[in-house]
Amino acid sequence: MSYTGLGSDTSCIILAAGEGKRMHSKKSKVLCEVAFKPMINWVIDSARGAGIENICVVVSSDDVRAAADGCTVCEQKERLGTGHAVMCADSFLKDHRGDVLILCGDAPFISSDVISSALREHRQSKNKVTVISAVLSDPAGYGRIVREDGGLKAIVEARDCTDEQLSIDEINSGAYWFDADALGAALLTLRADNAQGEYYLTDTLRAIAEAGGRAGCFTAPTPDVVLGANSPADLLELNRIAERRIIARHLENGVRFVSLDGVVIGPDVEIEAGAEILQGTTVYGKTRIGAGSVVGPNSLLEDAEIGRDVEFLSSFGRRCTVGDGARIGPFAHLRPGSHIGPSVKLGDFVEIKNSTVGEGTSVAHLTYIGDSDVGKHCNFGCGVVVANYDGSEKHRTEVGDFAFVGCNTNLIPPVRVGSRAYTAAGVTITSDVPDGALAVGRAKQSNLEGVGERKLKKYIEKKSG
Ligand code: UD1
Ligand code: MG
Repeated sequence: MSYTGLGSDTSCIILAAGEGKRMHSKKSKVLCEVAFKPMINWVIDSARGAGIENICVVVSSDDVRAAADGCTVCEQKERLGTGHAVMCADSFLKDHRGDVLILCGDAPFISSDVISSALREHRQSKNKVTVISAVLSDPAGYGRIVREDGGLKAIVEARDCTDEQLSIDEINSGAYWFDADALGAALLTLRADNAQGEYYLTDTLRAIAEAGGRAGCFTAPTPDVVLGANSPADLLELNRIAERRIIARHLENGVRFVSLDGVVIGPDVEIEAGAEILQGTTVYGKTRIGAGSVVGPNSLLEDAEIGRDVEFLSSFGRRCTVGDGARIGPFAHLRPGSHIGPSVKLGDFVEIKNSTVGEGTSVAHLTYIGDSDVGKHCNFGCGVVVANYDGSEKHRTEVGDFAFVGCNTNLIPPVRVGSRAYTAAGVTITSDVPDGALAVGRAKQSNLEGVGERKLKKYIEKKSG
């Protein structure tokens, strides 16, 4: 579900400068992927899905900066706590009044729905801060929600809790709606005088209450909002949850699966009803698959646009498009920039890179086509190679409609094979072939009578025992 129109008086700060030592990854923790999408991008997209356009990400590394495409980025040089991280977004906060949402970059399942519902509650109750809370069966490690007369009294960090407070199962998810002015004023009061010696964002609640502002809670309907990963095992669990949900959504939409073994589908993939995904298939990025298409088994698609009634059998495709009714594979490889027309046939061990292949063309076996524009209804025999790279530069090849490129042809670009032209098998094409011509370019064959059999004498004796 997506929401629009929360208004330009909303903005969001995502805290993503924390360390992730326990993930044993060179990447920042928030870049760890769930269903092939970095956690930080799940969070950014949930904020955007709720209609929030002004988003600031607080980072401490360049890799996260790069992932925060389209967002304002602020740097936190020293990791002095969640309160300090928000202070680092001071300039953004000054430019964006109204309601500001704070999210954790390492909790990928915060949803647009929860964000919007919490804002409604925040506005209706005229709160200066609304904490998004969740009820957990195992609340260990989380800040506890301490209530008084049903209202929010305080958030107490686990390390600062009394035994009685530790038994509270309602916890702080780390996501909040704040009134920007109240937040700005409260940040000025923060002190790092707690068990961890950090500036706690949660301490802003006390300052807001002291200034007479209302603090409230929005309890999320499921505990997912808080789920994050501190270890590879946690990350696997997040992947499992994402996988179950994503597949459930596609099943509901009419997508068919024979088996879910090894099937992984990213959150932004769109599949039309009546398409079928077979086992061992990974589909992610902004991939779209049309009705009637069958993808798999053992296929991979990333940022690919697959038309209707396509057969995509045991093949790979990245940043490519495939027209309706095409038959791809087994074992074809479509590299970025490949645009395959409708009803094209690409068979086994065919690799296409940065090329267009026109409607109805057949490239049935063992062929490489790179940096080429191939017309409609062409036929490529077995073993055609486009020598697109001369060691320093890439050159383009053009093949006109209805051309017939014989088996084992080498095409040395820049070169054009005309429409309805024919290249004889085994020819190396180094200059243009005019429309309708036959290109023959090989040495005349001569047969030396009896020489073959003489050379094979020992071989034939051995084989015939
Ligand atoms: C925080 C909350 C806690 C809550 C929990 C939910 C505080 C003081 N506590 O605790 O009440 O239950 O989240 O997960 O806020 N970050 C920075 N810079 C920093 C420190 C953290 O950007 O200096 C970012 C992290 O990348 C992360 C988020 O802030 O995305 C939360 O930080 P984390 O260290 O996980 O906070 P917790 O101690 O878990
Ligand atoms: Mg945490």
